[in-house]
Amino acid sequence: MFGRDSQTAEEFKEAVTKLMVIGGKPNLVNYFPFLRILDPQGVSRDVIKYMGIVFGLLDRSVEARLQRRKEGRTEHSDAKAKDFLDILLDYRSESGERFTKKDIIPFLYDLLIAGTETNSSTIEWTIAEAIRNPRIMKKAQAELEEVVGKDRRVEESDIDRLPYLHAVVREVFRLHPPVPLLLPHGAESRCEVAGYMIPKDTQVLVNAWAIGRDPTIWDEPSEFKPERFVESELEYRGQNFELIPSGAGRRICPGLPLAHRMVHVVIASLLHSFNWSLPDGITADNMDMTEKFGITLQRGSPLIAVPSPRLPAHLFNDQYH
Ligand code: HEM
Repeated sequence: MFGRDSQTAEEFKEAVTKLMVIGGKPNLVNYFPFLRILDPQGVSRDVIKYMGIVFGLLDRSVEARLQRRKEGRTEHSDAKAKDFLDILLDYRSESGERFTKKDIIPFLYDLLIAGTETNSSTIEWTIAEAIRNPRIMKKAQAELEEVVGKDRRVEESDIDRLPYLHAVVREVFRLHPPVPLLLPHGAESRCEVAGYMIPKDTQVLVNAWAIGRDPTIWDEPSEFKPERFVESELEYRGQNFELIPSGAGRRICPGLPLAHRMVHVVIASLLHSFNWSLPDGITADNMDMTEKFGITLQRGSPLIAVPSPRLPAHLFNDQYH
């Protein structure tokens, strides 16, 4: 939808990042509703500004696609090359109704917001932890070599055969859950949880970040130790409340099956194709591992990592021919 190097993609990412940070800020208005009109921290003002940017960019992309389709210039006329936007535009209900731009744009907004920072922060934290723990990087690479070899690139069908990589990802979700407080939930009725009475309509925030670091659940909770998951059945699909990076129950992340595949394929591919190191002057001991809390858990400063290829050159070139 947005080209990989396009300015639009940059603008989109910047606005989404801003929205994630604003969304995670405590807003005084929630505690003192009479301040709403004053918007003392400028939260509403900023949300309106950045949502406006994102909606504007989506609107331009959808318009451009509609125009190209009208002129028959679309590379997506071939059924196999159709993307999600084409599928939404082609859709007709049984009574012949189609989605309008008003339906499509908020829908794309939801999916892009929910699926952008979450995946990218998981990948960024994994590579950061792999660099800080060379033993773990080597062990994951050894597994990749055994399963994939060095004569081809990783494919989606490989990921179910990479148990150590899966343990690494679960450890990243435990220590750096991409959505640290999940999304706000509301109590539909008065209920009791762990001895606490929760009145009806209370807004409930579940601290998945703190659960992941709870010393009564985890041995050495601040250590990055994927081995704790190697022989473990503990999964992040909402069945085990010790590890709930995607939530649980009816509101569990609907993008989880997609996220599971994307995160594993990208991380496997990055570790299989490259060795990763830090730029001059930064060491594993002094690299910034601070966390910036918002709706998503971003790194305090973006990871700067230096790749060096591990595979024969033709495997990198092939992709671009
Ligand atoms: C590593 C990746 C991801 C993580 C950790 C993650 C995590 C979450 C969490 C914690 C929630 C809130 C659940 C709750 O409060 O109970 C959520 C909701 C949601 N996620 Fe994900 N997510 C990821 C990727 C994705 C992707 C790729 C998509 C779609 C393309 C997606 C779409 C959604 C949507 C639409 C919701 C809102 C559901 C609702 O309102 O009921 N997520 N996600």
